[in-house]
Amino acid sequence: MPQDPRQLLIDGLRNAHAMEVQAREMMERQIGRLDSYPDVRARLQTHLRETETQLQHLDTCLAEFGESNSTVKDTTQSIMGNMAALAHTVMPDEILKNTFANNAFENFEIAAYKSLLSLADLAGAASCKPHLEASLKEEQAMAAWVDQNVDSITRSFVRVAEAA
Ligand SMILES: [Fe+2]
Repeated sequence: MPQDPRQLLIDGLRNAHAMEVQAREMMERQIGRLDSYPDVRARLQTHLRETETQLQHLDTCLAEFGESNSTVKDTTQSIMGNMAALAHTVMPDEILKNTFANNAFENFEIAAYKSLLSLADLAGAASCKPHLEASLKEEQAMAAWVDQNVDSITRSFVRVAEAA
């Protein structure tokens, strides 16, 4: 059955909503276990607040198509599930695995928002685009932060391991 760009955008917005709910869960889980890494915890707390706003942006876009919050069903996507599973790991090096997972997740989100912007273009949903662009910028900033901090996080991990 052929689908118009409008319907494909709605599906994409729903998928992004599920993605952000999963991002929120991943970050909440990590934040509780980052006593040794206060900088990472602070950045995750900031991004957690941004993620709440991103969910509102998606709700706003969906509402423009007459889709209420209650109709948004957050289904787990397998690729995200795999990355989240990495973030569940309780191991001495979980800070490293979580950092790799966060790196993957943020880049996944960047591609998702870029794709949504294309769909919004094709669907003529101009009013939705500023919401998506705002979220894309935050994902890019978070991805850059993770990228720039792999070295320092790894060095902190070694110090924590040596002191244990
Ligand atoms: Fe994010």
